[in-house]
Amino acid sequence: MCGIVAVIGSREAAPLLLGGLKQLEYRGYDSAGLATVASRENADFGLMTCQRAKGKLANLAALVEKGGAEGFLGIGHTRWATHGKPEERNAHPHRDTASEIAVVQNGIIENYRSLKEELEAEGVVFNSETDTEVIPHLIARELKSLELESSVKTGAMLLSAVQKVSLQLTGAYAIAVIWSKTPEALVVARKQAPLLIGLGEGEFLCASDTPALAGFTRTILPMEDGEVALLTPLGIELYDAQGIRQQRSPTLLSGSDYVTDKRNFRHYMLKEIHEQPEIAELWVSRHLPEGLSVDTPVAFPFDNSFYQGIERVQILACGTSRHAALVGAYLLEQFSGIPTSVFYASEFRYAAPPLMPNTLTIGVTQSGETADTLAALLMEATRRTEHGDPAFASRQLGVTNRPESSLARQVPNILDIGAGMEVGVAATKTFLGQLFAFYGLALMFAARRKSRSQEEILNLTNELRAVPGQLRLLVKKHDQISEELAPHFANIQDVIFLGRGINYPIALEGALKLKEISYIHAEGYPAGEMKHGPIALLDPSVPVISIAMPGVVFDKVLSNAQEAKARDAQLIGIAPEGPDTKIFDSLLPLPKVSEWISPLFSVIPMQLLSYHIAAHRGLDVDQPRNLAKSVTVE
Ligand code: M6R
Repeated sequence: MCGIVAVIGSREAAPLLLGGLKQLEYRGYDSAGLATVASRENADFGLMTCQRAKGKLANLAALVEKGGAEGFLGIGHTRWATHGKPEERNAHPHRDTASEIAVVQNGIIENYRSLKEELEAEGVVFNSETDTEVIPHLIARELKSLELESSVKTGAMLLSAVQKVSLQLTGAYAIAVIWSKTPEALVVARKQAPLLIGLGEGEFLCASDTPALAGFTRTILPMEDGEVALLTPLGIELYDAQGIRQQRSPTLLSGSDYVTDKRNFRHYMLKEIHEQPEIAELWVSRHLPEGLSVDTPVAFPFDNSFYQGIERVQILACGTSRHAALVGAYLLEQFSGIPTSVFYASEFRYAAPPLMPNTLTIGVTQSGETADTLAALLMEATRRTEHGDPAFASRQLGVTNRPESSLARQVPNILDIGAGMEVGVAATKTFLGQLFAFYGLALMFAARRKSRSQEEILNLTNELRAVPGQLRLLVKKHDQISEELAPHFANIQDVIFLGRGINYPIALEGALKLKEISYIHAEGYPAGEMKHGPIALLDPSVPVISIAMPGVVFDKVLSNAQEAKARDAQLIGIAPEGPDTKIFDSLLPLPKVSEWISPLFSVIPMQLLSYHIAAHRGLDVDQPRNLAKSVTVE
């Protein structure tokens, strides 16, 4: 994880670095740091200054404000701790023994232990527990031997040293390197971790992700895997992993909305929950406009060939995106009749099922940067190419909120969920966007395969069209109900979430939301599974939140809820009002919608309840401990 920025040009680097890091803080906020090298214009020409602070970026900004960070060349970092505790000594940048070389890194150097042992044997003393610190020491070693050949210090020397060191590193990483002896050279490199170069007027800003570049330039050059670049005020020299010079034209950053205004909400998460009706409306107007034929019920950017010949679907995702995928799998199987499997991307990478022909692989990731999902998709594409049989050819689709992300550069077909920038670490509106994407796919596949009648397709389409208006009322109502309910969770330690069928993934999502922002232990179960063990956990101190929507499993869910009630559990229902749902001690009422579209509604009270419980506890809702918005390490 972590976010890196690097700048070289003709303006003070520190403010640019801090601005970029602010946009990358979603990638980690355990510590932050920057290093600059004083330019010719400064009295201290060539002096490297390194400032680091534990905790959020604001701590670093306060340090920088006191002065010291001068120069037009600099690198910055915001950390999500992997190797070493979140302490200042483990904060980036890391430096060599002489403090002449500074490095920031995003990713993991897998062979750092053996490299560290080798360096220690040569007398190098390490100051941190990180994997990163080996890099400046290795570069220093390479530079030492290059300096024997020439006494002139050049950017080309730094480039060459980084190229040599890159060959010694294994793992997935992106790095930015500066050397106090070359105040007009910046070297950046990437291997299986994103890094983009933003091109300004006589200046460059490199960053892990596009939001950090948006205020600087819209002209970008995404680095390809294995590439190393030397940046000077005069231009870019780009090399591939074999050291061969590359020529590529920059591209324009697409018009994504990077506005991260909290409006009048207390937290981004609450604002994002309230944006969901708008997102639903936008999705419906874009993809379900009136006048589409029943054969093509959804306006998607794919032609016929995309849907043709697909016999099965496999979906790879993590976290909340995986829960959306589980709803998607239910829809694709039960509505459209396509066998569909969902995998944790992190498991799929090392235990993929045997290849089956005519399979569509869907990667779901709101950020488009999740390392496990990207690697699983790549692995799947590679093994299918190696198979050689056209029936096994790779057919991939990415569902994302970031159409300019690494996913979009890796996968040939993209569905943009169009939810707008999500700042809260807990995914809410992007989950809704992902669900809508799957409703669209289910309708399209059902229409193409004729697995549903025209009437059924039309009914689902019309139900989806009515969702935005219903959601508007629901969000408002549940914001208030949840706020009132939250104080009752003040001393709660464990919560059980139950759901069945299409709402089972919503029970999983409810538990994940509560865990990640309120730090209350929560489990989601298929309601029918409780009696096989977890029911032993129940007593009056464990609330059970049960989703009961009229449909194929309605009566079953109510029976399962009764079983919990018989063990004195406090029962909270997410269900429509009516005689059947009187069994609940409290009710979070939903409109009487069809079971097919019910997840679009049942998730709302889950999100709001988690939010209000965490806010009531005074927790950092938008940046919960130990988490990051985008998980770019394995
Ligand atoms: O960016 P992605 O959708 O690939 O992220 C996947 C998970 O890391 C993410 O959903 C995570 O579980 C969130 N914290 C959920 O709120």
